[in-house]
Amino acid sequence: MNPQHVTLVEVGPRDGLQNEAQPVAAADKIELVQRLQAAGSREIEVTSFVSPKWVPQMSDNAEVMARIHRLAGVRYSVLVPNLKGLVAALSVPLAQRPQEVVVFGAASEAFSQKNINCSVEESIERFRPVVALAHEAGLKVRGAVSCALGCPYQGEVPLDDVEWVVRLMRGIGVDHVGVADTIGVGTPRRVQAALERALKHYPLDEVSGHFHDTYGQALANIHASLALGVHVFDTSIAGLGGCPYAKGATGNVATEDVVYMLQGMGIDTGHDLDALVDAGAFISRVLGRPPASRTARALLARRAQVAA
Ligand code: HMG
Ligand code: MG
Repeated sequence: MNPQHVTLVEVGPRDGLQNEAQPVAAADKIELVQRLQAAGSREIEVTSFVSPKWVPQMSDNAEVMARIHRLAGVRYSVLVPNLKGLVAALSVPLAQRPQEVVVFGAASEAFSQKNINCSVEESIERFRPVVALAHEAGLKVRGAVSCALGCPYQGEVPLDDVEWVVRLMRGIGVDHVGVADTIGVGTPRRVQAALERALKHYPLDEVSGHFHDTYGQALANIHASLALGVHVFDTSIAGLGGCPYAKGATGNVATEDVVYMLQGMGIDTGHDLDALVDAGAFISRVLGRPPASRTARALLARRAQVAA
């Protein structure tokens, strides 16, 4: 049976913007967070504390974290690849600290090397003290398993490799695992198989899906995940997103599209779709292109018709 409530983790400010070549002002990122929470987002991945040489777009991480207008009841998270990143994330003013951090590993050796410059096993050893310190500081730790459905360098990724990384993450105390389709190649049955491997090591509440939409499969993959009872998904406003180290991969599944689908299925997410469309239109104006979300485009066209 499908879940009655689904939690959407809004990754637009982080995954959505990290791959943008043009600089996006910190003030616009802050306004985006503000608009998202006004539209009902209760989990927001705000930025990443990674090397500014690797991902220049996120180099304003501390400023953005320090200046967002926090809303009670919203959980703010950031990516941290290592202890240096976590220490930086913890160094923002106490009241502005994230409540959650995300370590990101991969089920593919080749991608691990390209994205974080170390092997899968080395990444786990890097994450071990990050998890310990984050817990000491009272933060929850999510772990992303990139390339769980395929790798831009290696191609096929065996399910055993997905399960191996999930097990390693569990072993170092990561609280929640996200099965990530970095390049959007997954199809529903395969997504279910990958999630089932994660569910062997984590309870249902602590497994989520992170689906890029490169091949147009993301909504189908969410639908297939719901059938397993999985009820937490990363989504990105206006369908923004991509990883600088996964060439050719397009945006994440659009928050607006997922909310529209779930509303149609009678599943609550706590979002106001019209306000989400406004948030997506805002960041799309900043970027100078229309939203990739099909739902947003349809609703904006309808608004324009009504106004004409
Ligand atoms: P490295 O070069 O091996 O690191 O990079 P290093 O420890 O040798 O340090 C090199 C330099 O980086 C030093 O500075 C460090 O201080 C600095 P220098 O002495 O040369 O001036 N440095 C840092 N600076 C700021 N913050 C830090 C940090 N760490 C080191 N945290 C490293 C290793 C992991 C740092 C690098 O590879 C990196 O930053 N990678 C991040 C790549 C990234 O952000 N990718 C996108 C996010 S993942 C994603 O999108 C996938 C996801 O959405 C799920 C999915 O779709 O699959 C989550
Ligand atoms: Mg991603």
